[in-house]
Amino acid sequence: MSPIYPSPLADFGYDVSDYKDIAPEFGTLGEFDRLVAEAGERGLGVLMDIVPCHTSIEHPWFREHPDWYIWADAPNNWTAAFGGSAWSPFNGRFYLHSFYPEQPDLDWRNPEVVAAMQDVLRFWIDRGAAGYRVDAIDRLLKDPELRDDPPASEPYGLPLRADEARFALSNSRNAPDMGEALAKIRAACGDAFLVGEVYLPSAKWQPYLEHFDCAFAFELMFSPWEAEPLRRAIEATTRQVRAAWAMSNHDFGRLATRFGEANARGAAMLLLTLPGTAFLYQGDEIGQGDGPPGESVYDRAGRDRFRHPMQWDASRNGGFTTGEPWLPAVDPAKRSVEAQRDDPRSMLSLVRELIALRRELGDGFELLEAADGVVAYRRGAHVVAVNTTAEARPAPVRGEPRLETVQGALRNGTLAGHSGAVVKD
Ligand code: GLC
Repeated sequence: MSPIYPSPLADFGYDVSDYKDIAPEFGTLGEFDRLVAEAGERGLGVLMDIVPCHTSIEHPWFREHPDWYIWADAPNNWTAAFGGSAWSPFNGRFYLHSFYPEQPDLDWRNPEVVAAMQDVLRFWIDRGAAGYRVDAIDRLLKDPELRDDPPASEPYGLPLRADEARFALSNSRNAPDMGEALAKIRAACGDAFLVGEVYLPSAKWQPYLEHFDCAFAFELMFSPWEAEPLRRAIEATTRQVRAAWAMSNHDFGRLATRFGEANARGAAMLLLTLPGTAFLYQGDEIGQGDGPPGESVYDRAGRDRFRHPMQWDASRNGGFTTGEPWLPAVDPAKRSVEAQRDDPRSMLSLVRELIALRRELGDGFELLEAADGVVAYRRGAHVVAVNTTAEARPAPVRGEPRLETVQGALRNGTLAGHSGAVVKD
């Protein structure tokens, strides 16, 4: 779950004003306990989204403990994630905010901050949370001397805004001693599941994986829907193992819009058969697309269109709420869980089949040579082949494909007109 703590909502809850409560918009601590208990009865764990690098400017800590934050007499050249300087004036000095000005960065070099946040981390684990998605974790430690970011000498490896891309971003994030702070997070969480939102190419994950279970694979997320770039992203990321695959989320948009409606099935097949943890963004299992563009009421960075509610049924609000949702449902009459549940050819049925199949796939992974337009790999006894084009083409699958695990995907050894196949080799 994205953050559900009390928040002034300058950043959709990623500006937390109280880490140990539930926002009244979402419910109560008692309801949280019930959610965890009922999820547990169904064999599910609840992951919280924790935001350790910054608080809301309205968090009492900002007034009561200004020394828990990062201050300077004058700004350096660091830029904020949503544009402009990462520094804003307050009481004659400047505080650092890697994101919106309403989100001052905590100083993780201050032991009191570490202790306070460890206390928060223990709080939800003690209440039954299974672990955390750890937000923007490459920002946890910066250069202690707050030196300027030097000019970039090589590409960053992931998309950046043009003004950010001019710099190496080596001082404003991902400090060399990062591991020490990550160890403090792990120490408070025991063996709970921790996935890091590390906005770095996978080649730089090592310190994070020493303490966390996995990190989001942004190289795949940003790959165009073309076989060669997809293969390269998968190859780079699987060198590390322990990827958390995600191809859509609340920041960058939904599967069906990012990769094209025709490719949503193939994208889901990749996402759910690669080796590691998969994160499927709610709505993607029914092929929901982004909301109307241009509308930006809640998020100043324009991400509202990625955040329209889940469509459970065909009613006006998609069965998401009996009240008025913040953002309207996009097309519940066209697609919903209810409409797809019993249709064996629906996207929802495909996703369910793939999730069931994951248990059989085993640990092995080998990228295969593939014909143009096809991404193929071996997972134990299975071969996965995903067609990135709509055109007819021979299957790259070796051996005699027999078992057609994913319905209707394979015909006589060709992927013609199909999004892909998972076959027993
Ligand atoms: C992460 C979240 C994003 C948020 C930012 C600042 O990137 O996914 O939604 O704006 O952190 O907390």
